[in-house]
Amino acid sequence: MNLQLQPHSKVEDNPMDSFFDDVLKGLQNTPKKLSSKYFYDKTGDELFQKIMAMPEYYITRCELDIFQNKTSELVRQIISDKEPFDLIELGAGDAMKSTYLLQYLMEKGYDFTYMPIDISGNILSVLKEKLSIRFPDLNLNLLEGEYFEMLQEAASLSGRKKVILFLGSNIGNMTIKEAETFCRDLNKNLNLGDRVLIGFDLKKNPHTILNAYNDKTGITAAFNLNLLNRINRDLNSNFNLENFQHYQTYDPLSGACRSFLVSLKKQTVTIGNTPILFEENELIDMEISQKFSPEEIKELGAISGFIPIGEIKDSKNWFLDTIWQVK
Ligand code: AVJ
Repeated sequence: MNLQLQPHSKVEDNPMDSFFDDVLKGLQNTPKKLSSKYFYDKTGDELFQKIMAMPEYYITRCELDIFQNKTSELVRQIISDKEPFDLIELGAGDAMKSTYLLQYLMEKGYDFTYMPIDISGNILSVLKEKLSIRFPDLNLNLLEGEYFEMLQEAASLSGRKKVILFLGSNIGNMTIKEAETFCRDLNKNLNLGDRVLIGFDLKKNPHTILNAYNDKTGITAAFNLNLLNRINRDLNSNFNLENFQHYQTYDPLSGACRSFLVSLKKQTVTIGNTPILFEENELIDMEISQKFSPEEIKELGAISGFIPIGEIKDSKNWFLDTIWQVK
């Protein structure tokens, strides 16, 4: 299970302890599993930037098309009046897409505070640097940590109306069941009238999807393998990256695009003092990137207690930003 999704999980005193616990638990599970939320150390952030620039990885460009070319329509759907509000972005990263939204809101004189939440302190400090140069007058409040803990933090900072952004198909890192739980919890953490904008990658030609995660240049493979490097460095372990191989699948019926690492031989890896045995061809389940149909998205909103406000697709109809309101 992805601990990032647990709204009431205990705050660990030391984030390294929960990283260690998660990794050990995951590798002692059958099948072995690591959480993709740990991909994003400094190298992981850089590799993800490279993924976003790959010709095969259409996702960022599609949502950028929406934020760049349909900004006014987007703003009409996320804000119904000129009341002051908090614009909270879950997993903001470099905020490439939301920058277009910020630009528009600043120009039109909206009264708002931008609160990017990210688990990567590294990417947040890069973002702060970038935003303070681009928008010196922007009210900015950086929140480093897990989504729901930081959402509660944001609620304690102000009682203003909230607009939540969850972009880039980040919701795809959850199974459909986990996404349901997440949306229900999101709803419970918000107030009547608050709105959310969630970006979903749509089901499409299965080759297009598989190619986006199976690039010939090996950047996605390196992105997956980098988590083993991070574990070596931070948790005193001895993965040999040459003994693991990236394997990607896409199932067009369920919409699940999954990545695995395959152990190329029988081997033992030590995490701290704990030995972990890998059989030849044993898998580590690394990441899910779930794809949705527009109907599945509507259904998800309805069962998690939201009213649909609208939806905006890119010009290719490959990506959909949905806008829901808490009822
Ligand atoms: C950041 C979760 C949206 O699943 O498309 C990209 C991460 N993994 N290539 C995605 C990712 C492999 C990405 N998200």
